[in-house]
Amino acid sequence: MSAPTDHSIADALRDRFESDAILGARVLPIAPRQPVTPARGAAARSGTPARQNAPAGPVRRIASISESEHVARSSALAVIDDGEVKSCAKCGLHAGRTKTVFGVGSPAARVMFVGEAPGFNEDQQGIPFVGEAGNLLTKMIEAGMGLNRDDVYICNVIKCRPPNNRTPAPDEIHACKDYLYRQIRIIRPEVIVALGAPATQTLLETKLGITKLRGQWHEFRVPAARGDASEASGDEALPPIPLMPTFHPAYLLRSPSEKGKAWEDIQQVMQRLGLPIRRT
Ligand code: URA
Ligand code: SF4
Repeated sequence: MSAPTDHSIADALRDRFESDAILGARVLPIAPRQPVTPARGAAARSGTPARQNAPAGPVRRIASISESEHVARSSALAVIDDGEVKSCAKCGLHAGRTKTVFGVGSPAARVMFVGEAPGFNEDQQGIPFVGEAGNLLTKMIEAGMGLNRDDVYICNVIKCRPPNNRTPAPDEIHACKDYLYRQIRIIRPEVIVALGAPATQTLLETKLGITKLRGQWHEFRVPAARGDASEASGDEALPPIPLMPTFHPAYLLRSPSEKGKAWEDIQQVMQRLGLPIRRT
């Protein structure tokens, strides 16, 4: 689908995500640190100093919430995973799964990555993004963004592997997406990165293609909670969450010349979070 490829950009992105060097992708100017929005910022919620006061340099811990909030979010997530998802049979995909794949990472994450559905490795291990595409996602987070994989949150729209990794069907997405919405309500990330078309189209309720949607900010309107006890945030209306769609890492593995665009998308996310964009 891409035009004749610019291999210098391809190589640049491969290097940027896979070693540490920026060799050619367009590097966005460094934006002033954005203040954490009081209504949404994790730091504001917990009363701890906002992230923009932290020293520059490699960012290791990116969010700061109180210990009790951390425990509350972790247990709210575990209630859904252990109490519902692990035994879920709401759609036909339950029949073929080895393990359900709920999500991993920090309940205090400022950024949440949402993929499509587990593949072979994820189904075996019960952990999202641990195969080849997962390795590239990890490089995007660690070499690209300068974060630890453990400090973001990673999950999928669909929690059980579709046979032969086929695209999830609309009824399967419909059955499963409430789990994702509840994860988002508990973690309340400052930014969501939607990986590929199915995740983006589900979250934005659109049929537009990823090529049209990526690279620009959209808003995820957080659906109202159903008011059950596992929802730490109760049924208060949450403000929309900025959402950046980008290419799925599995697509980037097949079309490495598109890595430059993905890196530009990720830099927009870094700007929004006030993360330093290193130039060397
Ligand atoms: N692709 C996805 O969309 N999710 C995973 O967890 C792994 C591969
Ligand atoms: Fe339940 Fe989702 Fe698995 Fe379907 S894919 S069985 S809705 S957890």
